[in-house]
Amino acid sequence: MSTQTDTRKKVTVRRLAEMKQAKEKIACLTAYDASFAQLLEKSGVDVVLVGDSLGMVIQGEETTLPVSVEDMLYHTQCVARGLTNALLITDMPFLSFTSIEEAVLNAGLFMKQGGAHMVKLEGGVDQAETVAALNKNGIPVCAHLGLQPQYVHKIGGYRVQGRDEVAAGKMIADALTLQEAGADLMLLECVPASLAGKITEELDIPVIGIGASADCDGQILVLYDILDISFGIRPKFSKSFMSSSNSIEDAVKHYVTAVKESEFPAAEHVFS
Ligand code: KIV
Repeated sequence: MSTQTDTRKKVTVRRLAEMKQAKEKIACLTAYDASFAQLLEKSGVDVVLVGDSLGMVIQGEETTLPVSVEDMLYHTQCVARGLTNALLITDMPFLSFTSIEEAVLNAGLFMKQGGAHMVKLEGGVDQAETVAALNKNGIPVCAHLGLQPQYVHKIGGYRVQGRDEVAAGKMIADALTLQEAGADLMLLECVPASLAGKITEELDIPVIGIGASADCDGQILVLYDILDISFGIRPKFSKSFMSSSNSIEDAVKHYVTAVKESEFPAAEHVFS
């Protein structure tokens, strides 16, 4: 669908690795439809995530748990039609990867029928075999550590993870194991800034932060949070870029520039 003349290089797994090497920050945002995808593409966003946050921001649910494979596939297809060069990641929704077979089948659907270039899945070392199987089948993976919203009932709410020494050590070990299993990208959500910085330094693969650290190789936020149209209270780690902009496109461009120039996240958006 995109009619843009875009001279940007295609963002690939390889390009993301080069960006980490070159210390070029990676700007990522979520999107759920073709129009916003096209606007993000035009504004220089490198990576677009069809997040299962769509359960909340699109469907009005309280958590991401009700989101289905069919929902993710539909929104991935919509977003793919709006993109030209950005890398498209699709979240594996709750209980869509309970076995290796199920994970490969569902991730395969997102790639074959959805047009995704990578899938993201929550979980630590317990997911290493699944990551290895996806890797073996040619499916790039973004691992997701720190706060994992699909575990909200298990952890008793949305809270910062890895604050004590044991939990921090486990997160570092999980990150290294997932990288070893073949993950191409790592997302860290709600992690103390010092720990996120350490993981970013230790990993060879790029690390994307949300409520993590300005030292991460890139940043991601939920699109509706930066546009100030999300339900409820905006999380501490997020920022409205709408208040200082004249249009939605302007706000997205400001976000991209702020990430690229390491102006976002500022101290008030990260945790100690
Ligand atoms: O679902 C989502 O949008 C996410 C982001 C918060 C990173 O996982």
